[in-house]
Amino acid sequence: MPNLPHSWILETSRTAYALGLDADGRLVNFYWGARLPHATDYPADFASAGWASFNDAGQLAREEYPAESGLKYIEPCFKAHHADGVRDTVLRFDKAEQTGGDLTIHLVDEQENLGIVLRYRAHAAYDLIERWAEITNLGETAVTLERALSAQWHLPRARDYRLSHLHGRWADEFNLTREPLANGVKVLESRRITSSHHASPWFAVDGGVADEDRGEVWFGALAWSGNWKFIAETTDFGMTRLSLGLNDWDFSWQLNPGETFRTPPVLSGYTATGFGEASRRLHDYIRDRVLPNGKALRKVLYNSWEATYFDVDEASQTALAELAAGMGVELFVMDDGWFHGRNHDRAGLGDWWCDAVKFPHGLTPLIERVNALGMDFGLWVEPEMVNPDSDLYRAHPDWVIHFPKRARSEARNQLILNFARPDVQAYILEKLDRLLAENNIRFIKWDMNRNASEPGWETAPGDPRELWVRYTQGVYRVWGALRERHPQVTWQSCSGGGGRADLGILKLADQVWVSDNTEPTARLGIQEGYSQVFPASTMEAWVTDMGPAYLPLEFRMHVSMCGALGIGGHLVRWGAEKRAEAAGWIARYKEVRPIVQFGDLYRLRSAQQDSFSAVQYVSKDKQEAVLLAFRTHQPLVPHPEAQPPIYPRGLDPGANYRIDGQSGVRSGLAWMQIGINLYLADYQSAMLRIRQV
Ligand code: GLA
Repeated sequence: MPNLPHSWILETSRTAYALGLDADGRLVNFYWGARLPHATDYPADFASAGWASFNDAGQLAREEYPAESGLKYIEPCFKAHHADGVRDTVLRFDKAEQTGGDLTIHLVDEQENLGIVLRYRAHAAYDLIERWAEITNLGETAVTLERALSAQWHLPRARDYRLSHLHGRWADEFNLTREPLANGVKVLESRRITSSHHASPWFAVDGGVADEDRGEVWFGALAWSGNWKFIAETTDFGMTRLSLGLNDWDFSWQLNPGETFRTPPVLSGYTATGFGEASRRLHDYIRDRVLPNGKALRKVLYNSWEATYFDVDEASQTALAELAAGMGVELFVMDDGWFHGRNHDRAGLGDWWCDAVKFPHGLTPLIERVNALGMDFGLWVEPEMVNPDSDLYRAHPDWVIHFPKRARSEARNQLILNFARPDVQAYILEKLDRLLAENNIRFIKWDMNRNASEPGWETAPGDPRELWVRYTQGVYRVWGALRERHPQVTWQSCSGGGGRADLGILKLADQVWVSDNTEPTARLGIQEGYSQVFPASTMEAWVTDMGPAYLPLEFRMHVSMCGALGIGGHLVRWGAEKRAEAAGWIARYKEVRPIVQFGDLYRLRSAQQDSFSAVQYVSKDKQEAVLLAFRTHQPLVPHPEAQPPIYPRGLDPGANYRIDGQSGVRSGLAWMQIGINLYLADYQSAMLRIRQV
């Protein structure tokens, strides 16, 4: 049945989103939830009634993209300052087009000076809907945008909701918290110029009862790597509205006549089957639609940072490379310390050519040796940064983000290049382009080790506060151009660990350095938090020497085998026996790698909540699965009977499976219902393969 002229339905395989005009002509949401059998099932006529003189209908309407105006008093998506001094924007519906899963709705300000186009794209197979807004100045004078979020969503009314979100700090990223949404406003945000360690531009909201396998969950994520803001507003009228987009803190954008401002896109989804399913939908979408090369297996890499720190040279790296190759490593990455004047963290950033003292013959001999050993070669860079002690800073002190005549706060002895500036972009692009053109480099770790301060921009073409957005656009531009010119390179996003992990950066980066904390018991929790949003193929996980010596190599390996396995320990100090054992684990990882990287993830027992945790990856055809279980410290005297069974998930109920270490063949349904008993002592782990027979 066709949509009514002023209502629209977006359907995915299992979900639906319905919107339309209310009796007063506002664009409102009618429905967001499970897909219904008939088009006529969806509500299509919503009367937004008011309540007393204090609560106008506009305040109670479920507006799709509310602009600040009238008697709303809500968290709007949009606020602008018009040239005539008016700070309200009164939007009315103009027209709409719908082609399949693409819906475009045109709204126009009553003065016809501003047009806002709302774009919706249903990704049917993934049960996700993508949204963004395009704001165009249709008038003769500049308009100042003060808030331009990407979307607002409304949840079914009069229920109690719970918000799940991720937060943390350096070396302690991706802590998951679930908390009730009480009346008022809950804000999550970044003001740091990256998406940040401290919060993630992602949310999941449920009715308070969902778990990994059951319950309704509404979720969303923003594709943006700079300042962002999430707002959950719960009102006395039983309304819960969620908004996500660019942060309006210190935000201002001068929109000149004829110009269009496009917000970053947000993805949102609904599932009736819990948080696990919400994650799997994002994982599939990220692998298939966001990552530039999501179908490629991630190589087992070695990274020399924790072995040699800044003390790199041809001899030290060659020694490590030889040992790494002998263990089955496929990619050797030289971390920080290789470029001009970089002997410690007080100098060198900005001078992206190799240090002539450490590498008198350039990088080529080392790269050739690494290649002869059968490995690809990769390198660390931190393109957005500069040390005051560098040739670049001496030549261009004005290129950094700063307020003239004011102190420039340093962090890790470095300042941030103003990537909003075209000359800065051009300089860095040229330097890195040359590095990649002249050397056989197949992997780049792009790092970003501080956050912004003194956000001045003297030569800004518009409002200097545009810096926050134009900086991120500049990073995307340079990185995007490098990707295009050097398609052979795989990229990693790092920001002192997981300080820039988001759906925006994953259009450029193939994988993410999740945390500088590589202590494996901490890592289990960090990985679990990361997995709420991102697939295992993007989760770079190294085995290092961090943490107590009594943690067995097997445990360390198993933790890292939950993602894209890497090694970061001091291989010379490891000794032959340990290296041989590691080689065995790397070989086993390669066997299960396609299932881990491309399969469906099930979080069976939470590492953030329990000392006994487990995750499982199931191949898409359900032929095979891998289950990894971990015991950290048990506070009680260990007793086999006291350890709960683990219930596998995601198997074909009717097919028969055999599980490593478990006797007999059972149906998938039986294994999932009865579970398996696995006794693990302190710091013991297990990897079980599950195969159809
Ligand atoms: C950051 C990264 C580390 C390492 C260092 C190098 O802290 O997260 O992995 O690359 O920088 O200086």
